[in-house]
Amino acid sequence: MGFHYKAIFVDLDGTLLNSQKKISKKNLDCLNSFIDSSISVVIATGRTIKSIKNVTQGLKINTPVITLNGSDIRNSIDGYSMLLNYIEDELKEAIFSMCRSVINGNLNYAIQNILVDTAHGFYCLHPNQIEVDEFSSHYDSYVKELDLDNPPKEAIVSFLFLLTPDSKRSAFLEEQSEILKIFNAKFCTFNGWPWIEIGSSHANKGAAMQYVCEYLGIQTKDVIAFGDGENDVEMLAQAGLGVAMANADVHALKIAKAKALSNDEDGVSDFLERLK
Ligand code: G3H
Ligand code: MG
Repeated sequence: MGFHYKAIFVDLDGTLLNSQKKISKKNLDCLNSFIDSSISVVIATGRTIKSIKNVTQGLKINTPVITLNGSDIRNSIDGYSMLLNYIEDELKEAIFSMCRSVINGNLNYAIQNILVDTAHGFYCLHPNQIEVDEFSSHYDSYVKELDLDNPPKEAIVSFLFLLTPDSKRSAFLEEQSEILKIFNAKFCTFNGWPWIEIGSSHANKGAAMQYVCEYLGIQTKDVIAFGDGENDVEMLAQAGLGVAMANADVHALKIAKAKALSNDEDGVSDFLERLK
């Protein structure tokens, strides 16, 4: 039949990366062979650009990179921001107001992701140093304490609300579902550690995919996209073929037209090799 897609959009955590946060040789060789055949491979992640570099070594990326769930699109892995979606002032105010009123046992830390030039930093409320250190090392970013009465002046690209690992998503959502709906918030996990992420109302991986497709001169129907999380839903829905990993959450599985093996079974390369 032959491979007829012009681009492969791929999420990182839970999709291209295995549970050890590494790209397997099989996935690496497979994607590099597509790049060698002039198929675009586009990383689409919730991570910051700095934290992508550590995990994509060996991948011959030569296309834009979608970071922070589409809030920051880079022209290349070492390049500048082609598109930045800052959180709108009104939304920023509403989030600060929510922080002042709802920080409690379930929603225990508010972390704000600030973009200053090309550096990312986090401001934390009530930091638990161990979790914050782990989080900032995941994002490869610096952390400062957040003072809700004196919000920092820098432009903000996202808010992250860390949930305690044992707090149930359902309990949180029941309590905050209306707020989350208004904010178009995304639920993300990292090694089983849950958080809620809020970005600009214009930013998601689907909108970012459309932007990158226009840049590449292709249409979204010519894209095959892989993902595992709620933050992949728009991308999976808009791609010509959206593929959810076997380990994906219910939202990604529901929207995807096809299912791949899990991230620990080289699901991305296994699926792509079958299409060749
Ligand atoms: O840091 C962000 C989360 O680990 C999600 O990343 O969009 O690559 O799955 P992901
Ligand atoms: Mg993911």
